[in-house]
Amino acid sequence: MISIEKKNQIKIAADIIKKGGVVAFPTETVYGLGADAFNPNAVEKIFELKKRPIFDPLIVHLYSIDQLEIVCTEVDNRVYDLAEKFWPGPLTIVLKKNNKIPDIVTSGLNTVGVRIPDNDIARELIKLSETAIAAPSANKFGRISPTKAEHVQKYFSEVDFILNGGNTKVGIESTIIFLNEKGFEILRYGAITKEELEKVIPYCEIKIDQKKLLSPGMLKSHYSPRKPFYILNDSILNKIDKSKSGLISFTGKYDDGFKRVITLSKNQDLRECAINLFSAMHSLEDSDVENIIAEPVPEKGIGIAIMDRLKKAAFYYMNDFADNKLNT
Ligand code: TXA
Ligand code: MG
Repeated sequence: MISIEKKNQIKIAADIIKKGGVVAFPTETVYGLGADAFNPNAVEKIFELKKRPIFDPLIVHLYSIDQLEIVCTEVDNRVYDLAEKFWPGPLTIVLKKNNKIPDIVTSGLNTVGVRIPDNDIARELIKLSETAIAAPSANKFGRISPTKAEHVQKYFSEVDFILNGGNTKVGIESTIIFLNEKGFEILRYGAITKEELEKVIPYCEIKIDQKKLLSPGMLKSHYSPRKPFYILNDSILNKIDKSKSGLISFTGKYDDGFKRVITLSKNQDLRECAINLFSAMHSLEDSDVENIIAEPVPEKGIGIAIMDRLKKAAFYYMNDFADNKLNT
């Protein structure tokens, strides 16, 4: 249920979208920075605000499956099977785009990533805006994704409106899939696992080169805190000064001696870890620690998506120890 006060805020936000403005809004995964998907000037503002390269396409958000035909064409039955099971929800399906979608949204690709978010505020916003909303995550390009309105505020003071929907309930971004003749291929691991998808349609891997062409925005580095970020291993434990470092903890085994420790889930529940991951990264980025160390989680189920985020966050710092730069 949306309160009357919230509904009024959504109406204001929808008017801004209709007039070509940009609004930050909650989804179940992370906050998005949205504009009218059919208005290229409005979408351009998102790229400028985020400092996002134009080769990285945006996901288009719908409030109902009935809107599918206004953004894409040649929708086959498998999409409806997936929609029935996973929409509204954290699954983005890359489909053939309708020619009404401007090139800036899709970075010139002939496909468009589409999803229906499982968040009442998001869907009400899209509905009242009477359009589809193109939205990336509401962070500056390459930085940590936002799971609270406060995180969005940290990045964007200049955005027309931020709808506050509290903490997002999934915490990491949607799974992005592409459908080929034989089944689905995963372009980005996310909240919905391969195993869950395989119950609906078969998994069929494509060649890595083809995957790169299909998904030009997938970079090795992303989600980067402004501080050195490492995935915990023996060598790092030996070299790092724990008294100056923050730990994102999973098992609790390594907590002793760190200046700050944030435990992702007391029961080591991977879904709970996903919910708390970006918030933990933001907290340590904004705290007095010099380095951030994250304990790896098992790479199974949603753990694959969590490890994907950790590896991308650690990408720039991967060679620090090889160079002995961190002799603290
Ligand atoms: O959970 C989410 O997906 C969040 C919320 C706001 O919906 N959005 C999100 O957007 O994570 P963004 O822009 O941070 O990441 C979307 C990624 C892009 O980096 C791009 O690589 C991929 O989706 N993408 C978008 N359209 C695509 C397309 N047509 N083909 C292949 N990949 C696409
Ligand atoms: Mg993003």
